[in-house]
Amino acid sequence: MGCGACSCSVHTEAGGASGGANAQFPAPVIALAALEAVRSTNGCERTSFAFLRQELPVRFANILKEIDLLPDKLLSTPSVKLVRSWYIQSLKELIEFHQKSPDDQKVLSDFIDTLIRVRNRHHDVVPTMAQGVIEYKDTFKVDPVTNQNIQYFLDRFYMSRISTRMLMNQHTLLFDDKSGSGHPRHIGSIDPCCDVVEVVNDAYESAKMLCDQYYLTSPELKLTQVNGKAPGEPISIVYVPSHLFHMLFELFKNSMRATVEFQEKSPTLSPVEVTVVLGKEDLAIKISDRGGGVPVRKIERLFSYMYSTAPRPNVDDSRNTPLAGFGYGLPISRLYAKYFQGDLNLYSICGYGTDAIIYLKALSTESIEKLPVFNKSASKHYQATSEADDWCVPSKDPKNMAKQSAAS
Ligand SMILES: Nc1ncnc2c1ncn2[C@@H]1O[C@H](COP(=O)(O)OP(=O)(O)OP(=O)(O)O)[C@@H](O)[C@H]1O
Ligand SMILES: [Mg+2]
Repeated sequence: MGCGACSCSVHTEAGGASGGANAQFPAPVIALAALEAVRSTNGCERTSFAFLRQELPVRFANILKEIDLLPDKLLSTPSVKLVRSWYIQSLKELIEFHQKSPDDQKVLSDFIDTLIRVRNRHHDVVPTMAQGVIEYKDTFKVDPVTNQNIQYFLDRFYMSRISTRMLMNQHTLLFDDKSGSGHPRHIGSIDPCCDVVEVVNDAYESAKMLCDQYYLTSPELKLTQVNGKAPGEPISIVYVPSHLFHMLFELFKNSMRATVEFQEKSPTLSPVEVTVVLGKEDLAIKISDRGGGVPVRKIERLFSYMYSTAPRPNVDDSRNTPLAGFGYGLPISRLYAKYFQGDLNLYSICGYGTDAIIYLKALSTESIEKLPVFNKSASKHYQATSEADDWCVPSKDPKNMAKQSAAS
């Protein structure tokens, strides 16, 4: 899809599941390369407006359809009701722009005001939704199927939120005169020359500050970088620095907490070792700690929204940023990585330490949005019922063959 009115294209190449003006499905797209091409001319503001007034309601409506498939008992918690009402209200406000003319300057500035209002309204979606899940978990026993459905839903819900925030931010940063000019190199929230090591250092320093505050000590950082594409050159990619910072900050917090707690009795702390490698296809960032690791049995749980080993934080206590809280650090960071077709994996050795690896696309043309689509396959996920296991379950008293043969 091209943009017609100007050479830039906010919605772009990949076309998406829908295309067409009456699309029901999100138009995935937004290769970073395409966003990078956006320039803040008036022509582009109209194009961006025309795209967003169509695309944002589609994304909001898609996710609302999935909210409605949640278990009734979760849907009826005050927190989930509140979140749902925010989405409905925002959808209504955005749809009002459908018939308005992109050539009217007042319409364009009203649209920016609406985007800002919507963004503010949705500011607390993550903790509010988390609160809803806690309320549900505390009141009802959560069976494995419901647990799986909630995990499936939240991954898609938060991914959708990352995408709509990205679109709204991009538009307001580029076209709202009041929002300040930001970094001169950045195009909206995208840095076409994002210095990865600089973001690593920033995230480390921020996590270190929290760690020092909480434990009065913190592990050092040992950094190695390998530019496999252009040896000796600094490593940079087209990326959204705030997304990269988010992932690194979460991983540093986890590694620091694990290291300090595991090495409590040791006179010195092992450093957190970071390796940044730029290859032809991937940019990889490995964060290795000696924090004692996690048993294999538990690894999958770490990405669950229902699991954390940290004491539960108080939702109202927004002044204190805890070092660990809801247990959302890993799952949300993995979503940020996946959003532009990357990934985040954890490899752990119980009794030793953990390697967390972030993979991002080295080429901006491959950094295309990954978006949830509401369709039959999606709705089937919510109807899944518990079936008998097709592997035997070890807890069912295994026969002791040694005893049997001795008896015979
Ligand atoms: N590097 C690590 N070493 C050991 N355990 C880890 C490591 N990273 C994560 N974990 C375990 O995984 C759990 C989940 O981590 P996650 O970051 O998702 O949530 P959290 O740290 O508990 O809370 P927050 O939402 O504040 O991040 C942690 O509570 C911890 O038990
Ligand atoms: Mg964490």
